[in-house]
Amino acid sequence: TGYITYDPGFINTGSCMSSICYIDGEKGILRYRGYDIADLVQNCDFIEVAYLLVKGVLPTLDERSNYARLLNKHSMLHTDMRNFFRSYPHDAHPMAILASMVASLSAFYPEMEEKDPEDNIDLTVTRLLSKMRTIAAFSYRQSIGYDFVDPRYDYSYCENFLNMMFSSPVLDYHPDPVHVKALNQLLILHADHEQNCSTSAVRLVGSSEANLYASVAAGCCALWGPKHGGANQAVIEMLNKIIKEGLSVKEIVEKAKDKSNTFRLSGFGHRVYKTFDPRARIAKQMCQEVLNVEGMHDSLMEVALELEDIAIHDDYFIERNLYPNIDFYTGIIFHLMRIPQQMFTVLFAMGRLPGWIAHYLEWRHDPYQKIGRPRQIYAGPETRKVIPLSLRT
Ligand code: CMC
Repeated sequence: TGYITYDPGFINTGSCMSSICYIDGEKGILRYRGYDIADLVQNCDFIEVAYLLVKGVLPTLDERSNYARLLNKHSMLHTDMRNFFRSYPHDAHPMAILASMVASLSAFYPEMEEKDPEDNIDLTVTRLLSKMRTIAAFSYRQSIGYDFVDPRYDYSYCENFLNMMFSSPVLDYHPDPVHVKALNQLLILHADHEQNCSTSAVRLVGSSEANLYASVAAGCCALWGPKHGGANQAVIEMLNKIIKEGLSVKEIVEKAKDKSNTFRLSGFGHRVYKTFDPRARIAKQMCQEVLNVEGMHDSLMEVALELEDIAIHDDYFIERNLYPNIDFYTGIIFHLMRIPQQMFTVLFAMGRLPGWIAHYLEWRHDPYQKIGRPRQIYAGPETRKVIPLSLRT
């Protein structure tokens, strides 16, 4: 007990045993519950993958339709909660609204605080999966000062989200099937990634036996930062800046290598992957597909390809094993789907939600789990005596 290992960023610390997600960072492999990420993206929709992560198995046809029905049934928000949205400033970042509204679910739907939370956990999980999508769309509507659009029972999970985001009384809006497919695939790509910063936050908060909503709200806050889920927004801002200010891609890469400033290439590098992030490979292919289907030419994509090409052939990036990560191309797909930039990280959160829930549940059922409580190496002053206030200089 007297010996404490110093491991900043927990680079070498395994904080739990988990059977949810497998990553081989050297080979670029990612699997959810044994299924390869490419296989899942190709053959499943987001509901099936959410079911897989939360319940441990892929659903049968009946189980899938029942689950989709259940998610639709719970998709509305309490009226008082809807009113609550209106108190946020119009330019509030949707992530600020999302995190606080998810925490607020524990006030409006307090089953988990009751005597036997185990009885209610299924209901809480379903509510959260369903309502977070509604909260996400409402947070956007509030940020642009538009009325809310209710979820519809005849729409799928992703159709509903797009409809709640973009439907308007002056526009005959129907979710584009290409966008619906892309959204399903993007959410699957984000659905879990073992002990990343936000999932660790969910586990840590959950380890104090805080309820699921509170634990997931902590995950949203952790995800928001530009080194984590906020990177997708930062990538688009970086690419736009290159285009608008006519900057040279080479110069941007040089700036990212220059240690006299703190600038980094957004969407590059990863703690675990020392090769291409397998999710980035799939996202890059999806970008091309969405562009082809829409018959579009996109200058952001052109700059992204040039940036990737220069960086991956540069010694600085090669020596440090820095490759494009998931956020490098997903921002471009969101942009092609006309999702506003401030919503990119919210979509990451919607995708990561089943993973957060699965880890929370795994912790609850793990007999060896303890409250998370890392130690520190004290580096402060030795014992000192307090000088009376009047004598202090
Ligand atoms: N651009 C330039 N240099 C970089 C970059 C980058 N994007 N990423 C890492 N480096 C350098 C860093 O300066 C350091 O150099 P040196 O050894 O000379 O000091 C070396 O590479 C190792 O970096 P690190 O910060 O020690 O690595 P880490 O594992 O602690 O950080 C990271 C991983 C993802 C935070 C980091 O690569 C980064 O800041 N990337 C940009 C932000 C980003 O794209 N984040 C999304 C991550 S993927 C999705 C997710 O998990 O949310």
